[in-house]
Amino acid sequence: MSDATLAVPLDRPEVPDTLPLLPVRDIVVFPNMVVPLFVGRESSIHAVRFAMEHSRLVMLASQKVSSTESPQPSEIYTTGTIATVMRMITLSDGRIKLLLQGMVKAKIVSYLQSVPFYTVRLQKWDEPKVTLPDIELHALIRLVRGQIERIISFGRFPVTKAIPVIEHMEDPSRLSDLIAQHLGLTMEAAQDLLETVDPVARLKKVSSFMAKEIDILTMQQEIQVEAKGEIDKSQREYFLREQMKAIQKELNDGDERSLESKEFREKIAAASMPKKVEEEAEKQVKRMEKMHPDSAETANIRTYLEWLIEMPWSKETQDKLDLALAEKVLNEDHYGLDKVKERIVEYLAVCSIKKTMKGPILCFVGPPGVGKTSLGRSIARAMGREFVLVSLGGVHDEAEIRGHRRTYIGALPGRIIQGIKQAGTKNPIFMLDEIDKVGTDFRGDPSSALLEVLDPKQNHAFSDHYLGLPFDLSKVMFITTANQIDPIPTPLKDRMEIIHLSGYTLEEKVAIARQFLIPQQMAEHGVLPAQVRFDNAGIRKIIAHYTREAGVRNLEREIAHIMRKTARKIVEGALGRQVITGANVGNFLGTSKFQPEAAVEKDTVGIATGLAWTPTGGDIIRVEATMMRGKGGLSLTGNLGDVMKESAQAALSYIRSNEKALGISPNPFSENDIHIHVPSGAIPKDGPSAGITMATALASLLTGVPVRRDVAMTGEVTLRGRVLQIGGLKEKVLAAKRAGMKIIVLPKQNEKDLDEIPPHVQKGLKFVFANDMSDVLTAASRQSGFKATPRRHSGRL
Ligand SMILES: Nc1ncnc2c1ncn2[C@@H]1O[C@H](COP(=O)(O)OP(=O)(O)O)[C@@H](O)[C@H]1O
Ligand SMILES: [Mg+2]
Repeated sequence: MSDATLAVPLDRPEVPDTLPLLPVRDIVVFPNMVVPLFVGRESSIHAVRFAMEHSRLVMLASQKVSSTESPQPSEIYTTGTIATVMRMITLSDGRIKLLLQGMVKAKIVSYLQSVPFYTVRLQKWDEPKVTLPDIELHALIRLVRGQIERIISFGRFPVTKAIPVIEHMEDPSRLSDLIAQHLGLTMEAAQDLLETVDPVARLKKVSSFMAKEIDILTMQQEIQVEAKGEIDKSQREYFLREQMKAIQKELNDGDERSLESKEFREKIAAASMPKKVEEEAEKQVKRMEKMHPDSAETANIRTYLEWLIEMPWSKETQDKLDLALAEKVLNEDHYGLDKVKERIVEYLAVCSIKKTMKGPILCFVGPPGVGKTSLGRSIARAMGREFVLVSLGGVHDEAEIRGHRRTYIGALPGRIIQGIKQAGTKNPIFMLDEIDKVGTDFRGDPSSALLEVLDPKQNHAFSDHYLGLPFDLSKVMFITTANQIDPIPTPLKDRMEIIHLSGYTLEEKVAIARQFLIPQQMAEHGVLPAQVRFDNAGIRKIIAHYTREAGVRNLEREIAHIMRKTARKIVEGALGRQVITGANVGNFLGTSKFQPEAAVEKDTVGIATGLAWTPTGGDIIRVEATMMRGKGGLSLTGNLGDVMKESAQAALSYIRSNEKALGISPNPFSENDIHIHVPSGAIPKDGPSAGITMATALASLLTGVPVRRDVAMTGEVTLRGRVLQIGGLKEKVLAAKRAGMKIIVLPKQNEKDLDEIPPHVQKGLKFVFANDMSDVLTAASRQSGFKATPRRHSGRL
């Protein structure tokens, strides 16, 4: 029942005959009962202190009247319980909190002392022998247990922990004491129980108290049930009334229903649907009429009918096929991109001659932010067509293209039909963005659905699973975009006419910013030309220090950022025109986000500069080679892909097999480990085009001849040292120029691609076209080739 260490053996035989007395109020303490008690009266505190210093025992006897402050002996019951102090805490206000356990009953025989506390002489209470025959006793105990169960079933018996004890207790005396504590008896009744000598008589009293309690609880419950019955009745009435309303509504609804179908029929007639579609729509209206208006199925039919009605079955815009106008619009919206614009105009010319749009589908390929999407918008504007953009990025599921069958809960048409509805005409410019990001997996192959969309032989009757009816896509002009060509499935690629857009040079970006982005953002933020001005150094600084991209998307974002700040300054009352200069850009945009790739300070042994193509544009990469004592191993670090690692092996093999020509001796390969590292390890790098760069870094390392710091190179290398063609030329050249390179070494096979590079980019660059490694090495060193002098070599090792 309580802390095992503190519990005192319950049948402690030797009870002293004199003890300090603690008069208690409001409670009668029974043997074995554990009670907390607050002691505040001066005399009682003394009594407790005395007890603590001696046997820890006190006599507890209840006052006849609780409110008496200093009760006289006559005001205290003579029968009480001897208790032991289990725990004592002195509270901050001087009072004492006790935890007491009742031990045995006792009778006060006389008062021995009254100051500073009462001391009493006691007579131990001898429990008389149980006189009842066994059977009767058992019957009584069983009755009592049954009563306890009843009370528990009402949820009233507070101490569930006591239940197991009660269940097994056979001693009528202890049983009645234990139950008595929990019955919530009045003081008088409790004291009466305490004073009842015969345990059986006591248990009978307890039993009759419980019987009374059970009666009360039963009655309470009945009253509750009755009250609840009242509520149930009113609820039932409410429910019936609601039902009646529903029935009435149903009876009147005939009119509403026919109104709804009438409206649908009118809309269907106005939608100028093909005959087949109209028939289907009518069939659905009829089905709907037969169904409950609030059913889920009716709701589905409604949604479906709305789709049928809103689809632009025969709505079309009139094309403007005025080539001069088209050219004008394209120029109004975009800086540069001359070749691209030319091809678009040619394309439109062909269409206007053939009077159809069944040409190949245009596919704009290039890094983000170079204007692919906005070219699509421009074409729409030039032709007077609607424009819709649907992104295919992350589409894995055929159903996203073609929709779900209507039997699915929450089914919807696929993205194509959704796009057409959004366009509101059957001949929009429909841009399928990021067609290279379409995935294929177990849910089906979206690209086969796309193929059907794009195939002019099939797309006049494109079937979406949700619509379940063919829609004519043949008047739609599809344009697709991609960052890369390679991931596009070949059958799709074959239908498309690829138009490459490459990144912009710094000068082009400055021009785009000045002529397009800044005026657009000013207009968008309500800033007037008289209020803000950018100088060229300011724009250059934004490009070089706050963006690193092939396109101009982040540049646009940073300009917008400046406009917001400016607008705020104007509102806050700034006077005069804000001028954004190279020196104050930081005030608007914070500390710069990028440092232009640090140039190599001087020609260095073992470090060569390569050029890489990434989906976001070109970049320069540094290849570092070093050597230490070891056993001829080659380690490669910097997050390199497999192809790049193989190409490093090839480069090393080439160098090893050309030891003699390079003057490398004595053979260093077996006594040393070589390590090639390409910094910026967080950027994954792959592809064979760093081959000649790695070979150059190795040649430099092993000969001790430094590599020219202003040479950048790109090309694949074979074991025989031949230099092979690479891709992404323009991006790479732009990156080299950005990084301040002077000489660019390219594979001879790429010479034909040089006219991709605008003359202003070529200006100031020297191009070297290499057939094999010796051409590369000649260009990469200031002494026309790498050749170790024996002295220098042995000095290094
Ligand atoms: N040559 C350009 N002239 C004017 N604005 C351009 C040019 N290229 C890109 N932009 C602008 O850059 C932003 C990003 O272009 P966006 O068409 O979204 O790029 P993409 O679709 O290629 O990722 C647009 O606001 C666009 O108008
Ligand atoms: Mg885009």
